[in-house]
Amino acid sequence: MKILMVSSEATPFAKSGGLADMVGALTRALDRAGHDVRIVLPRYYCVPKTTLKKLEGPLCVPVGWGEEWCAVYESTLPGCKAPVYFLDHERFFGRDGIYGTKEETDFRDNPQRFSFFSRAAFQLCRKLDWIPDVLHAHDWPAGLVPVYRRYVESASEFARTATVFSIHNLGYQGIYSKEIFPYFRLPWDLFHKAGLEYYDAINLLKGALASSDQLSTVSPTYAREIQTPEFGCSLDGLLRSRSSDLIGILNGVDFDDWDPSSDRHLPAHYSAADLSGKAACKAALQREFGLPEDPDVPLIGMVTRLTDQKGIGELFGPLYGSAYRICTDMILQVVLLGSGDRWCEDEVQALAARIPNFRAKIGYSDRTAHLIEAGSDFFLMPSRYEPCGLNQMYSLRYGTLPIVRRTGGLADTVENYRQDTGEGTGFLFDLLTPRSIYDTVGWAVWAYYNKKDHIAAMRKRAMTREFTWDRAAGEYGELYARALRRVRVD
Ligand code: ADP
Ligand code: GLC
Repeated sequence: MKILMVSSEATPFAKSGGLADMVGALTRALDRAGHDVRIVLPRYYCVPKTTLKKLEGPLCVPVGWGEEWCAVYESTLPGCKAPVYFLDHERFFGRDGIYGTKEETDFRDNPQRFSFFSRAAFQLCRKLDWIPDVLHAHDWPAGLVPVYRRYVESASEFARTATVFSIHNLGYQGIYSKEIFPYFRLPWDLFHKAGLEYYDAINLLKGALASSDQLSTVSPTYAREIQTPEFGCSLDGLLRSRSSDLIGILNGVDFDDWDPSSDRHLPAHYSAADLSGKAACKAALQREFGLPEDPDVPLIGMVTRLTDQKGIGELFGPLYGSAYRICTDMILQVVLLGSGDRWCEDEVQALAARIPNFRAKIGYSDRTAHLIEAGSDFFLMPSRYEPCGLNQMYSLRYGTLPIVRRTGGLADTVENYRQDTGEGTGFLFDLLTPRSIYDTVGWAVWAYYNKKDHIAAMRKRAMTREFTWDRAAGEYGELYARALRRVRVD
């Protein structure tokens, strides 16, 4: 099949979170499976032009009352032969930040930037004389792709092209004032008909959910959860109405990047058969964070965006969060790498200044993220909701037992510890409260000190859990086939 991935992020070119990992890894797996798969991305400043090849001639994209032009650059996705196209438009993408900056978290012209991008995907295919069987769009920035396909390109060379839309995070919907609607070059009746209308504003994600031939999200549990009011972010009704077209496909782990037996970021390597290198990683991690190099104290790691989704309020909320008591009541060490909401960054730093066994780095570092996965004994991820979550899968692979809330992809990947039998690969809790995080960390720490044989067996078991992208790519292949059948029968 010919598949075009339309995404605002893909590793290694542009990343703000797991979306980038998913798009890069799925593309590689589809390429391995023999599909002709390609990616289109905006060319942000973080992608230097000098590493790219410029294609002949500009691209003309109809928007607003006129048109915008951009240049097209090309590269190849590392580790495979999939082409990656970059749309180079200085005014829209020539800046730092994918969606915004610390000061302006959602760029004011995001609806223009990403509607341009979505429309340009079609023009790119025309320019390449390559019409895909499937347009696979990801998250709200590509939300207009299925809308354009259904309502603007239905009788064009895209008439036999199917659309698949993947929800990576229902919490971000791309909601903007309807004043911007004319910019999309869609007739006003589509404001309602295409599902873009949302409390008299525009909702790009909603448009995609209503218009796409097939829908997917990144774990089976999240696919069920988003059809309930608690997790549906007010789109659960629409999702329920499309439930026969919605599937949850669990993400995989890219073992080229995340394998403790070959990880280039680690001072020592290890495997399930021989875990001795993990102790060297723990020592290096303690050194890096300025903690005493003690092999016997349980070390808990976190790598996270510091946003409400990740349960940071219950951990670090001023006065009520449980992090302070966890660190002062229990004999353990905690290291955190993350960035995000300013209040939480401040709170985390204040905590690190007060208590010696809690250490934090605010910022983004691939190397440190890998070292935390390898050097920690446990990985804490108390997410409010988690569409899939990659870090807990990395943790399992690195023999670092996850302590997670039973939600979304966390529920699908971590098996709860059973004290009587020693079964399980991690520690789960249901209710998101400071108290249950405290209790569950306490439970893990207790097992660390008192059930050493269980912990050792759980580590080995966790390391054998396979989350392969080849399996996921197979499921996406079936989803594409379903979408195509639908479009070609209609
Ligand atoms: P989300 O996409 O919701 O943030 P995921 O668990 O799916 O959550 O993916 C997060 C990805 O981003 C992982 O690859 C993780 O290692 C990485 N990541 C998050 N924060 C940082 C950071 N501060 N430094 C390095 N990597 C990070
Ligand atoms: C989003 C979700 C995360 C998921 C990732 C990749 O960022 O928050 O849970 O793993 O997308 O699909």
